[in-house]
Amino acid sequence: MAALIFVQLALGLAAVGWRLSPAKLDLFVWHKSIGMLILALLLMRLWWRLAGRVPALPSQMAPWERWGAQISHFLLYALMLALPLTGWVISSASNVPFRIFWAVALPAIMAPDKATADLFASVHGWLATLLAFALVAHVGAALRHHYIKHDAVLARMLPWRAR
Ligand code: HEM
Ligand code: HEM
Repeated sequence: MAALIFVQLALGLAAVGWRLSPAKLDLFVWHKSIGMLILALLLMRLWWRLAGRVPALPSQMAPWERWGAQISHFLLYALMLALPLTGWVISSASNVPFRIFWAVALPAIMAPDKATADLFASVHGWLATLLAFALVAHVGAALRHHYIKHDAVLARMLPWRAR
């Protein structure tokens, strides 16, 4: 999901920046399709997260570090949900026909309305900017755990490492 999200940020910026052309339209199909895939994966992930047990944070972490981790992870989850949903609103409100990966038509979640499409395009852009800043902090924190605090927080995210 992390890789898809980095690709998705780049695709969104590229899709908005390119001048109108068939390639730009394709870029938007990729952007919207990967965005809906992220939404589906996120819902599975949330189900798994809420149903399962989560490894405890290292005991030597200070209270402010625990709060920071919890608040920033909550923010990342909220943005991973809000971005696809606002994207879906733009797509529906702007009434551009769209099939996920050129195959499955995405149902509209609202009637076409230019003002709503414009409003949500700007909200979507701001949320993406907030996500980019949150990710700088998130990846920075992961590197701090690994290289400064020398704990197992980064290493234990790797699937091939024993927990
Ligand atoms: C995690 C998921 C997503 C991320 C990180 C993301 C990110 C972005 C970014 C960075 C932009 C460029 C914003 C700008 O420069 O103004 C953008 C634009 C856009 N995205 Fe997404 N997006 C996501 C999901 C979706 C989905 C699911 C859809 C539609 C089904 C969608 C539809 C759009 C549209 C239509 C625009 C152009 C808005 C405009 O006209 O300014 N996005 N997105
Ligand atoms: C190079 C990229 C990334 C690195 C190195 C990284 C690193 C980490 C690490 C080490 C943790 C573990 C925290 C713990 O054990 O409690 C974590 C958790 C998490 N990461 Fe990332 N991450 C990256 C990208 C992302 C991206 C792109 C997102 C989504 C926008 C994301 C969202 C999250 C969330 C929500 C958690 C909390 C998981 C949970 O407790 O359910 N990460 N990340």
